[in-house]
Amino acid sequence: MTTRYRVEYALKSHRRDQLIEWIKALLAVPFVLHSQPTAVHLWQQEDTSKLAAVALDTHQRYAEIFRDVERLLNDHIEHEENNYAGHSKLKLLIPTVGTFFTRLYLAEAFKYQDEQRHISRRRFVAPSFNDVRLILNSAQILGLLHTNGIELVTFDGDVTLYDDGENLDPDNPVIERIIRLLQQGIKVGIVTAAGYTEEAKYYERLKGLLDVLHDTPDLTDDQRSALIVMGGESNYLFKYDSTSQYRLAYVPREQWLIGEMATWKEDDIKELLSIAENALRACVANLNLPVSVLRKDRAVGVYPQSKGRLFREQLEETVLVVQNTVERSQVASRLPFCAFNGGNDVFVDIGDKSWGVRACQQYFGGIDPARTLHVGDQFLSAGANDFKARLASTTAWIASPGETVQLLDELDALKATLKTRASTSEKETEE
Ligand code: IMP
Ligand code: MG
Repeated sequence: MTTRYRVEYALKSHRRDQLIEWIKALLAVPFVLHSQPTAVHLWQQEDTSKLAAVALDTHQRYAEIFRDVERLLNDHIEHEENNYAGHSKLKLLIPTVGTFFTRLYLAEAFKYQDEQRHISRRRFVAPSFNDVRLILNSAQILGLLHTNGIELVTFDGDVTLYDDGENLDPDNPVIERIIRLLQQGIKVGIVTAAGYTEEAKYYERLKGLLDVLHDTPDLTDDQRSALIVMGGESNYLFKYDSTSQYRLAYVPREQWLIGEMATWKEDDIKELLSIAENALRACVANLNLPVSVLRKDRAVGVYPQSKGRLFREQLEETVLVVQNTVERSQVASRLPFCAFNGGNDVFVDIGDKSWGVRACQQYFGGIDPARTLHVGDQFLSAGANDFKARLASTTAWIASPGETVQLLDELDALKATLKTRASTSEKETEE
């Protein structure tokens, strides 16, 4: 490849998820060969049974692909667990593929999502990125439920729980779903980039949820204390506290820092943030960005003045410049950091969500990655901050707060189905 080509490829590839794109490409083959755009005459004759037969045929072919990909994934998991020499077949096909903490039940998930989205009934629109993303989410939920169940769910804030830059208001339908998780004994962490040192600021952002937690008679005190907030990716921990006027209490770092976090030096933190700040300021000048620079003790960022909007290209260019600059510095080898595109701002935080999720797991007594689910909206490999959570837990990639609600309802429905199935088969073996 020429240099120019390589650069373009690198820029393009960080904006794509290779596993999803690969599955989408596999599905394009049966779509092209079996979907029947010309079957439109069957509609005219109202011959829906023929259309249903075409859809069933397509369904079976898609299902076969998901079964085969599931097998490849299982082979990859086995390969990694046993430290076999060389790469798994899946890793050879998709070099960026990571570690899976549970199996993914793709065939079962496809069946479920095809019932919801009628993917195989479509004759003009091929299985899309979003179809595959949602199938992977369902497969992950099934993976958790079929393996050991879920003990901890961590949520990103902006775009996952509420719209970008908004607050968690009292009428947000996600609130009752979070309460339901707590009632089921599941721990909940909100792992957000939003980094503030004061409880009051988080209360302002999360008031809807925190007030319900305080007022509802439907939770025990133990269930209430199963909610924590991790701010600034992995920098500030707060626990629920009914006695505080802001319903939260700051947890001092020495009580929850994990592993090498305790060795991160203040001087290094300052140095890394200064390098990032200089790079941000250079972008502001170079791209003539209408933004202010904000430096905090664990983050530095740029955000638009007076509610202006930045272009996607400006945001992405800035993230990539800053990330590259910081990566090249010595201090980056001693300290993890996270540069990301916040939708209409760019921030660089010390630490990242892998540390944030791990700290939550540790806070609750050491919950396993295979029993943890992180729900977020930013999973591209560069300029996205939920991506790093994949190192610490299983994940679900949602595109809006509405999808988070749907995901939590799906979790509940699948849980109920599996329970009924288990009790039926128990009865059958007894008989
Ligand atoms: P998240 O989606 O919950 O991770 O929140 C990301 C948003 O929080 C960013 O886009 C910023 O608008 C905002 N934010 C506020 N303070 C900080 C900070 O210290 N670091 C990063 N983002 C911040
Ligand atoms: Mg987000």
